[in-house]
Amino acid sequence: MIDVNGTVYQDLTKILVTREEIAAKVAELGRIITEQYQGKKPVLICILKGAAVFFADLARAIDLPVTMEFMAISSYGSATKTTGQVKVVKDLDQDILDKDVIIVEDIVDSGVTLNYLKGMLEHRGAASIRIVTLLDKPARRRVRDLKVDYSCFNIPDEFVVGYGLDYDQMYRNLPDIGVLSPKVYERNE
Ligand code: IMP
Ligand code: MG
Repeated sequence: MIDVNGTVYQDLTKILVTREEIAAKVAELGRIITEQYQGKKPVLICILKGAAVFFADLARAIDLPVTMEFMAISSYGSATKTTGQVKVVKDLDQDILDKDVIIVEDIVDSGVTLNYLKGMLEHRGAASIRIVTLLDKPARRRVRDLKVDYSCFNIPDEFVVGYGLDYDQMYRNLPDIGVLSPKVYERNE
């Protein structure tokens, strides 16, 4: 396991959520989903790439016959602000008509990406759609009526990396979530 004193951690100003806090929340969310979907076979949809680490842990905390799907949507590029443009880069492999779908996202920021995605899955005839996210930045929401069913951690408006979240594709493998030092953006500007 990567150590907090390791090289990549030197690019963080602070650790916001520790691996222990993440593990406790993931276990709790797994139990909640297991209870709420008794007798069902939910389709878990991982929004690549950011949600991949959270998704792998969450799926194993759910004691139900789930299936796993992966979808890639781009609305971001490598910058730290959303562009508002959404495009499906990789679509689902299965038909979700009459299925109970759980969208698993890394972070809800403006909400533009998820709002678009939810509308699209509704259109395809899912029986139910719930959104679970690892992180939520409520201060930055632009889509006011987007309902996030479960958020593990609400965080302030700071750019974070780790546990799947990236800056320019880096830092996804950090086991904790931390605030990226502005020195890193300045270096790349
Ligand atoms: P939204 O459409 O603005 O809600 O964009 C959400 C997406 O932006 C997430 O899935 C992330 O890929 C990215 N994002 C937003 N905030 C952060 C952050 O603090 N760190 C890393 N990625 C972020
Ligand atoms: Mg990203």
